[in-house]
Amino acid sequence: MSFIESMKNRYTTKKYDSTKKIEEGKIHALKEILQLSPSSINSQPWKFIFVSDEKTKQALSKVSWLNTDKVLDSDTVVVFSRISNLDLFEKQIEHELPEGAVNYYKEFIKPKPEAEIKAWFDKQVYLALGVFLSACAEMGIDATPMEGIEPENYDNILNQTDYATLMAVAIGYRDTEDFNQPSKNPKSRRAFDTVIENIIGTEKESLEKINLNETTQIQ
Ligand SMILES: Cc1cc2nc3c(=O)[nH]c(=O)nc-3n(C[C@H](O)[C@H](O)[C@H](O)COP(=O)(O)O)c2cc1C
Repeated sequence: MSFIESMKNRYTTKKYDSTKKIEEGKIHALKEILQLSPSSINSQPWKFIFVSDEKTKQALSKVSWLNTDKVLDSDTVVVFSRISNLDLFEKQIEHELPEGAVNYYKEFIKPKPEAEIKAWFDKQVYLALGVFLSACAEMGIDATPMEGIEPENYDNILNQTDYATLMAVAIGYRDTEDFNQPSKNPKSRRAFDTVIENIIGTEKESLEKINLNETTQIQ
């Protein structure tokens, strides 16, 4: 299936078939995909916890608002967290990143108020969420991104102190009756032309640009 077809078929799953399990190989591939996710200056200010243990899922389900059943019936809940201990983050990048990247952090990010630094971390984690949801779509795995959870209680249950939960994703396979699947509830999006804008030069301008580039390259 092409990527665009996968994106048309993916949807936020509202009801899972609890008897269907995701193959171990696919779970491992998803872990690697998260590890490979891009981030500004390669900062990687994140942690991803894969929860398949029933007891832990039950505990998380109780602090997941309207998402309780998705947490219980899905195969795995992936908790997305960002680092919240700034000293630890700075030590990490000093060890792991090239000097240029560390200097960028020191000059442009570190002087900001702590809340803004954390917001910059959060953006990187949300980018990983996009990569993850796209990967699930491509692999035919159903998923539910969930901000409707109690992040502090997730941290307590998972014993997190240096990291803070931002959101979680339930993954598994849909119940065949799920009302939200595209065959029952067609996708709704704002009109293509309201969200996509094109700035296109005239054909003459484009040709001039090409000629200019060629001239530049020859020199
Ligand atoms: C960051 C984020 C948080 C979300 N939180 C929830 C949630 O807690 N529960 C839920 O059922 N859906 C949640 N959604 C699903 C959105 O409502 C859904 O993506 C949107 O309506 C578009 O529908 P689609 O994903 O089926 O294409 C969330 C989506 C995103 C991206």
